[in-house]
Amino acid sequence: MTQMRLDKFLGEMGLGTRSQVKDLIKKGRVAVNGQTEKKSERKVDLSQDQVQADGQLISYTPWEYYLLNKPQGTVSATEDNRYPTVVDLIKDKKRKDLFPVGRLDVDTEGLLLITNDGNLTHCLLSPKKHVDKVYFARLTGTLPQDSVKRFQDGLVLDDGQKTRPAQLKVLNPGSSETEALLTIHEGKFHQVKRMFQALGCQVVYLKRISMGPLKLDDSLKPGQYRPLTAKELRELKDLETGRDEAK
Ligand code: URA
Repeated sequence: MTQMRLDKFLGEMGLGTRSQVKDLIKKGRVAVNGQTEKKSERKVDLSQDQVQADGQLISYTPWEYYLLNKPQGTVSATEDNRYPTVVDLIKDKKRKDLFPVGRLDVDTEGLLLITNDGNLTHCLLSPKKHVDKVYFARLTGTLPQDSVKRFQDGLVLDDGQKTRPAQLKVLNPGSSETEALLTIHEGKFHQVKRMFQALGCQVVYLKRISMGPLKLDDSLKPGQYRPLTAKELRELKDLETGRDEAK
């Protein structure tokens, strides 16, 4: 039987700050199992108590997982003074403690997981787990003939750091504006752009199309999102517990 204070419950479910929620309770706008409850410290049993605020049933959601197609012009953060954040885009969220798993640049589009699951996040971002991230890039400049091998061998970035092996696939050889898929297994700052820069090319468009078992749906336009499916969540959890390594 998991219990939680009423004000904490309502705060976590996004009804306001702790003091706003206390105020709501004091004003008699909150009911537990149909009875008005004016005590913030009242414990609710998450498995059976029914909590209502202004007559609306509030169901407790401990974890949320959304797959977002991040649009350009948004920032991978929870707060920002200049740009809308990726968390602002999740209009259906129940919790107020969601954050993006890793960062995409302001001008990068594509797959971003938004959750409040810290353990899973740690696992997905851990260099030890080598989670594949696949990017679609459009470039100006000419890639050297031996680019595939140079990405595979590891490149030296502008600050002297060496990258781990990455897999390059050029999609339109011979075109003036190269389109390529790049798979990396780490997440250094501006990594993809800096890897192409190390070979004399500029990324003019960048989109992440997958991260581990998660793939970007064609159905999600930039700015759109959906909850993870049960299968996607299971695959992520297998990664977290190491069960995928046994396969
Ligand atoms: N690499 C970059 O350079 N930018 C991103 O947004 C993600 C990876």
